[in-house]
Amino acid sequence: MTVQLRRALPADVPAMAAIDAAVSPSPWSAAQFLDALQAGARGEFAWVAEADGAVQGFVICQRILDELNIHNVAVAPVAQRRGLARCLLQRVLDDEHPPPRCCLLEVRASNVAALALYRGLGFSEDGRRRDYYPTANGREDAVLMSLQLSSELSPQLSPQLSPQPSS
Ligand SMILES: CC(C)(COP(=O)(O)OP(=O)(O)OC[C@H]1O[C@@H](n2cnc3c(N)ncnc32)[C@H](O)[C@@H]1OP(=O)(O)O)[C@@H](O)C(=O)NCCC(=O)NCCS
Repeated sequence: MTVQLRRALPADVPAMAAIDAAVSPSPWSAAQFLDALQAGARGEFAWVAEADGAVQGFVICQRILDELNIHNVAVAPVAQRRGLARCLLQRVLDDEHPPPRCCLLEVRASNVAALALYRGLGFSEDGRRRDYYPTANGREDAVLMSLQLSSELSPQLSPQLSPQPSS
């Protein structure tokens, strides 16, 4: 598997929306993706992971002063468990100049895969927003997570940047 990480372009929106529709319980619309890509003044931006020439994953972020907020991350089912999400997040963190002081996100309490991904990158739980997300049967908590960053942290993350080859 040949992987390329790059900034997302408006032309990537259909692929990003299709991935989100396939994997997210509350997918964004194409208009929301386009807005995020065109929201330079709000500090919002996105990266995509192309595997073998096709967009297979993305991350949407927002820089607010010295904070980096992760708004959405998803990887197509066919490309999951190959390190794409970890690579995307590490690349975003490594690419920010000046480096952010911290990275913040929220995740559904039931999202075992995403929680493991974030914990593996060093994120820790700061608290919960009770009954924040709708579910098929009711509501569930949002887990609020953060990663404290410093000038020493980025080099520690960098050795993991290479995606795992497909078997
Ligand atoms: C969460 C998600 C983005 C992970 O993408 P991915 O490219 O498959 O993740 P990676 O291959 O980079 O995995 C990195 C680590 O995350 C954890 N992880 C990923 N998927 C997992 C799963 N299904 N179960 C348990 N842990 C998982 C593992 O610790 C993994 O490391 P390992 O493979 O060395 O064990 C993907 O499952 C997805 O798109 N889910 C639906 C959308 C979503 O939930 N987004 C997050 C919103 S907050």
